[in-house]
Amino acid sequence: MTPETRNTAAAAAHDYTDGDHAESEILKAARARGHDLGCPSVSTGAGAALRFLTAALQAKAVVEIGTGAGVSGLCLLAGMAPDGVLTSIDIEPEYQRSAKRTFAEAKIPPGKVRLIMGQALEVLPRLTDGGYDLVFFDATRTDYPRYHEHGVRLLRPGGVLAFDNVLGLGRVNEPGHRDQETTALRELAKLVREDDRLVSVLLPLGEGLLVAAKRLP
Ligand SMILES: C[S@@+](CC[C@H](N)C(=O)[O-])C[C@H]1O[C@@H](n2cnc3c(N)ncnc32)[C@H](O)[C@@H]1O
Repeated sequence: MTPETRNTAAAAAHDYTDGDHAESEILKAARARGHDLGCPSVSTGAGAALRFLTAALQAKAVVEIGTGAGVSGLCLLAGMAPDGVLTSIDIEPEYQRSAKRTFAEAKIPPGKVRLIMGQALEVLPRLTDGGYDLVFFDATRTDYPRYHEHGVRLLRPGGVLAFDNVLGLGRVNEPGHRDQETTALRELAKLVREDDRLVSVLLPLGEGLLVAAKRLP
């Protein structure tokens, strides 16, 4: 196989795998609202993976950083245990208003979602150590390396960390790109790979979904 054929086959496989997930009208409407607000949502494939992870973990307590218009939140909730609670943090009130509309349209009872408005690095230290089954990051890429330690601290043993968009539009594996965001994403990948407390895998969904399970002590 030539490099060109391999690239074409990989792109086709990516488009197929990422697109092969039916979404409800409510999710599609939330995605459209996010787009109109200039706040991109997780890809359909990444959303499906989040739903899968919360279902596999039977997650009761999940933290999301980057509420946006509520697309990833709805995917996380779809897999969570019936008595589970999603804590979702965002710095933009307008986006959280849009997410509230998404959750209301999906008839999510208000007690199942705790929305916290604020800067992630100020809110994260206030959350309980070892209190969460899954922590999902989809906010400031340049802060991803700093999110890593918070995520590990918040997870219970056996819990899972997830970071969206870790390939930075394909720039991460192009050595010529040395901008702040790309550098931070490379640093995150290294931190996670070299962290003995974690077992990770990079899923080629959307712009790359990095997931890592926290080992039992
Ligand atoms: C890509 S959007 C999230 C999309 C959302 N996860 C979804 O799939 O619908 C990124 C979000 O992170 C929020 N954000 C960016 N930097 C932040 C920070 N430092 N603290 C908290 N939220 C932040 C933005 O306001 C935006 O809503």
